[in-house]
Amino acid sequence: MGRVYNFSAGPAVLPEEVLKEAAQEMLDYNGSGMSVMEMSHRQKPFQEIIEAAEADIRELMKIPDNYKVLFIQGGASTQFAMIPMNLMKNGVADYIVTGQFAKKAYKEAQKYGKVNVLASSEDQTFSYIPDCTNLPVSEDADYVYICENNTIYGTKYKKLPNTKGKPLVADVSSCFLSEPVDVSKYGLIYGGVQKNVGPAGMAIVIIREDLIREEVYPGTPTMLMYKTHADAGSLYNTPPAYSIYICGKVFKWLKKQGGLSAMKEYNEKKAKILYDYLDESRLFQSGVNKKDRSLMNVTFVTGSEELDARFVKEAKEAGLLSLKGHRSVGGMRASIYNAMPIEGVEALVAFMKKFEKENL
Ligand SMILES: Cc1ncc(COP(=O)(O)O)c(C=O)c1O
Repeated sequence: MGRVYNFSAGPAVLPEEVLKEAAQEMLDYNGSGMSVMEMSHRQKPFQEIIEAAEADIRELMKIPDNYKVLFIQGGASTQFAMIPMNLMKNGVADYIVTGQFAKKAYKEAQKYGKVNVLASSEDQTFSYIPDCTNLPVSEDADYVYICENNTIYGTKYKKLPNTKGKPLVADVSSCFLSEPVDVSKYGLIYGGVQKNVGPAGMAIVIIREDLIREEVYPGTPTMLMYKTHADAGSLYNTPPAYSIYICGKVFKWLKKQGGLSAMKEYNEKKAKILYDYLDESRLFQSGVNKKDRSLMNVTFVTGSEELDARFVKEAKEAGLLSLKGHRSVGGMRASIYNAMPIEGVEALVAFMKKFEKENL
């Protein structure tokens, strides 16, 4: 079997060019006679890899100098705990709950302090982003937390919440590097890399320096302190070296594509093809508030579970993989991250049209 169109929500499609390059370098990285997997993280070849990766993501996201970039093990979920453990000075935080991952983060934070739900869209199965222009932000909140793109439901904040001066903390796992961001608007941005950036198991954390503190929650393990990773340049212990290497290659690929503005344009074009069709289809519907639609995760249903299941099965046979919606919501989900070519989206829409004709 050759390459398929992989619509998985994560781990997800990576640029073919990156995978081919990694394959070529598998046995002998850059004349070193070994794979990056076999290499000491304290020696020059890897030092160069991690330094270039940091420099490239700084350039792509225009990260100001007073922010640190940290490569941390444990995926995105570890950050659900690290954030409150490190950022709660007053022991108070406000969360906006727009999906399961925001809810998990909220629940985890409750272990470490007083946590308020500022707003939630759970009343309508997380199908929209609440109005966040004038929320009752707690006076003593150490931060306001959001999940910027909700992978399971297919919603995204188009405007950041008004945090009334409190640091904004955002989980960008499923919209990482998909469009330009103004980093200065956030106290901390983080994402698991397994969707838009690289192999699973690592998070990239971009944190404003004044939020890196020594006085963290009592008993916080050394490995869960941002300070540990910031002071050691993400090399306190053996880092997820191979993951950093692949992320670095994806950063170079993104630069070659024209950076994040070009990516945004491409992602908008891809998503439009799918949403335009969903809007005119008589079989498939998007269940998400129109103005909150994600460019990365497009969810849809036929209204019949049996038909949904048949669609997923027949799509797979046609080389369009992993279109089943999250187990908690059912239906379908097409994740169309940076590395999904426009041809993949066109092939999906062509298949949906054919399916509609046959089943209406
Ligand atoms: C928005 C979001 N946050 C967090 C996670 C959890 O990531 P991880 O499995 O790396 O802990 C995911 C994905 O699975 C996600 O989509």
